[in-house]
Amino acid sequence: MQDKLNAIEKAALESLESVKDQAALDAWRVAHVGRSSPLMQVFSELGKLSKEERPVVGQAANKVKVALEAALAERTEAVKAAALAKSLEEEQLDVTLPGRTVNVGRLHPSTQQLRRVLDILADMGFQVYTSPEVESDEINFQMLNFPPHHPAREMQDSFYVEAGDRGDNPILMRTHTSPGQIRAMREFVAMNPSDPPAIRIALPGMCFRYEQVTTRSEMQFNQVEGLVVGKGITFADLKGTIADFARRMFGQDVRTRFRASYFPFTEPSAEVDVECFVCGGKGCQVCKNSGWLEIMGCGMVHPVVLQNGGYDPKVYSGFAWGMGPERQLLLRYKINDIRYFWGNDMRFLSQF
Ligand code: DAH
Repeated sequence: MQDKLNAIEKAALESLESVKDQAALDAWRVAHVGRSSPLMQVFSELGKLSKEERPVVGQAANKVKVALEAALAERTEAVKAAALAKSLEEEQLDVTLPGRTVNVGRLHPSTQQLRRVLDILADMGFQVYTSPEVESDEINFQMLNFPPHHPAREMQDSFYVEAGDRGDNPILMRTHTSPGQIRAMREFVAMNPSDPPAIRIALPGMCFRYEQVTTRSEMQFNQVEGLVVGKGITFADLKGTIADFARRMFGQDVRTRFRASYFPFTEPSAEVDVECFVCGGKGCQVCKNSGWLEIMGCGMVHPVVLQNGGYDPKVYSGFAWGMGPERQLLLRYKINDIRYFWGNDMRFLSQF
């Protein structure tokens, strides 16, 4: 019997040598220490032995069982360690792999420029007033002193919005931010009709024109309108305010010049040039060798417009301007195609 037990132990330990993974461990356990293994067979047959043999064989069989279980535990540890070593080997961290870039969102360059302009104007005491992008012909044109069929309307071809037959007052996408002047004046008048408050506001936003899209003209663009209304406002206030804005925007040494111009809603009207901030006024491609860049239109608010807003032109006067943040960016960064702004090309947008 002792020989049989020795053989069982030897065979089991030998076969354990070739066990390399968890599945083989499980199979080995069933085969060599499981219920129907040869060793367990010995235990179940103890009853058939004589009274004297029984404890001797029982003890010997127990010794084999303890030895096999110890060997199994040891092997299990070894298999686990080998598996760990293998996975560490295989799943090594390759620190030379290129990283995954995180794409951080950013503001559109137009929005950035719009905010720069509004920050400066806020420092100068201007409040932001927003007005609708969809307007009536009356507010967009008529109240601003463009009579129906006036040729000046051709400067601003419009997108019309279908809204039934409204005769001479169709609905359109605003062609400029100037209609906000009328809305703002009327709102300020409503605050105190007998003595309307003074106004100092900036009106930012998108404008739309029915234009052939080319490198130089777009059918949508932003404007920032300025409006100042009060008692005793003069052209000197207009010049001082705009020159101050230009210095804050383009540099403390930058000079400005005013050229006479025409807009139906201002009288007198002017266009404002700043000394070319690309070449410092010496002449370059951007300023077409003139040394000057046009940055806005402006003027004293026309008496008819003040009247339409509810301000008595005999008591109040004011000035206004309209400028384009995209135009400022075109000039600043020497961008030669305005279509980049709404082309949604990340290669363009991510540069700002
Ligand atoms: N509304 C004009 C345009 O879009 C720009 C403008 C010029 C606005 C003179 C003004 C102004 O307020 O005084 O072309």
